[in-house]
Amino acid sequence: MIGIFDSGFGGLSILKEILKEPAMARYDFVYLGDTARAPYGNRSPEVIYNWTAESVERLFQDGCELVILACFSASAVALRRLQQEYLVSLRGSEATAAISPEKRILGVLIPLAEEAAHISRFGCVGILGTRATVQSGALKVELKKRRPNLQIIAQAAPLLVPLVEEGWINRPETKKIIRYYLRPLKQKRIDTLLLACTHYPLLYKEITAVIGKQTRVVHPGKIVAKKLVDYLARHPEIESRLGKGGARRFLTTDRVDDFECLGSRFLGEKVKAKLIKF
Ligand code: DGL
Repeated sequence: MIGIFDSGFGGLSILKEILKEPAMARYDFVYLGDTARAPYGNRSPEVIYNWTAESVERLFQDGCELVILACFSASAVALRRLQQEYLVSLRGSEATAAISPEKRILGVLIPLAEEAAHISRFGCVGILGTRATVQSGALKVELKKRRPNLQIIAQAAPLLVPLVEEGWINRPETKKIIRYYLRPLKQKRIDTLLLACTHYPLLYKEITAVIGKQTRVVHPGKIVAKKLVDYLARHPEIESRLGKGGARRFLTTDRVDDFECLGSRFLGEKVKAKLIKF
């Protein structure tokens, strides 16, 4: 089973694109949205790490072999530590002995960094993300690893998350706020813009209209989906352990009705969710 983790239902915008890949439809997926504690984007690194670790452990206990942190804030703040400390600790600990150390955790930053490093024409890349994502600097690090001379301008856009959740997509207020956040990126004449947040793809048209035709806007779900297909092809030892019955399960830590309603909007199809407690 493949586990998809997000702070809430935003990660369904990533799952939506993964499921569109013909090669991915046959796998079993379980999605966990920690709606009781969302949003994560304004939290401290320590809190984001602890909550993400709890959810990942739960997905592993549920039988996931591979967990994808679809949440950018969680990927930016917690992925490295989870890979270097948590997965390593599984090898020695009795408490987690039921969890095989062969399990894997992936995030959503590296696919975006690879794509931008590859497609940027003039070497000037903009990042739009939550405060936690931007403050972590993790995406900048990944971009620089791949193309050291890139000029990178990162902008936190915290107001866009609640606006999307309220369904304020076409409102003039939202367009004004998008213009405000994009102004510094436009002034620097970025040629590539990374939407480094699960919610921003729902504003893709609006953001593209403001930033202008000369800037390529990278849609995170589409890139993550392509890279996942590629990853599984390169890792048959993991791929062979994944269930392939086409199952879909949705877990939420609060307000099942809200999750199902908003989740359906993010996924583009009906969502039936189950409440879980840690
Ligand atoms: N899922 C978060 C992200 O992609 C956005 C929502 C939140 O702040 O929890 O960073």
